[in-house]
Amino acid sequence: MPEIVPLEWTGDSLRILDQTKLPQEQAVIVARSPNQVVEAIKGMQVRGAPALGVAGAYAMALAVKAVDTLDVPKMQSYLKEMAKQVAEARPTAVNLRWAVERVLRSAMGAHSMADLRTRVDTEAITIHREDVAANRRMGALGAELLPAEGTVMTHCNAGALATAGYGTALGVIRAAWEKSRKLKVIANETRPLLQGARLTAWELVQMGIPTTLVVDSAAGSLIARGEVDCVIVGADRVAANGDTANKIGTYTLAVVAHEKGVPFYVAAPTSTVDMSITTGAGIPIEERPPEEVTEWGGRRIAPKGVGVRNPAFDVTPARYITAIITEKGIVRPPYEEGLRQVMEGGGA
Ligand code: MRU
Repeated sequence: MPEIVPLEWTGDSLRILDQTKLPQEQAVIVARSPNQVVEAIKGMQVRGAPALGVAGAYAMALAVKAVDTLDVPKMQSYLKEMAKQVAEARPTAVNLRWAVERVLRSAMGAHSMADLRTRVDTEAITIHREDVAANRRMGALGAELLPAEGTVMTHCNAGALATAGYGTALGVIRAAWEKSRKLKVIANETRPLLQGARLTAWELVQMGIPTTLVVDSAAGSLIARGEVDCVIVGADRVAANGDTANKIGTYTLAVVAHEKGVPFYVAAPTSTVDMSITTGAGIPIEERPPEEVTEWGGRRIAPKGVGVRNPAFDVTPARYITAIITEKGIVRPPYEEGLRQVMEGGGA
């Protein structure tokens, strides 16, 4: 099966598969400066929490290359400023902040510019590699939770495109499907930017997994009618108590799944867990431009003068989540204890 490569580091540029053009066109943006990466993040050309982290790490590596100085403290203070700018490009996905801070920490220990350059490049490449490995591990662990035969619903895109490769929730689906080849997937289209219709459906069709696309407003009724055996989604940030931010619409699915006794799983690497936030109430929710709701394909679909709210994410309370699949183990309620264990290095 050909692997989807959302991000490719060449040593002096970051090649970004432009997700706004998929599935019609596989166009690549070549970013040679940190600002170009920030623009690609804001413009959703690269998206999905772990992919944002990897892109952010390479933005830091590009920042080092953009400034010609032999003054290490000067470079370090420039990188501090750059880390802030990159992290703020999209505020909900904690992977972005996590990755830039990790690269920054590696730079802070440098004793020469040559050392700093090596450290920053190495750290960004390590973050990239670790994410693919984490996804494969989550796939193997999470596949045990999915039924051998049946229908799995997913929301937004938590596939290879949203990560460094392989995917979180879609990685679990892929691993489970490779075992039995009897799973089917319902992909929710995911308004307003249609990550489910454009990206998840594209990935699943390429993998040969039988997939049915539904509009978001059909999802709840399909769960209620017994047509869904479990729901699995990715995450943009998991608070210390297990409350989970993910694409808008996830909360509604979790409530319906809970009401109908359908398991609801979250697949998220530990880079998505934010132990500094005790509950979901502390997770910042990104509000995106109103045009994403009032327009489609550059064409106005709502009357001028209408008010718009466009929160990109919602928070699902931990009590609706059956289990959180991380690369270090499957965490079940009560999440405070299990998440602490995986974050401290051990398994759950
Ligand atoms: O706004 P997006 O497309 O970046 O939102 C992405 C999601 O909500 C994903 O479900 C989440 O980042 C997990 S990706 C493995």
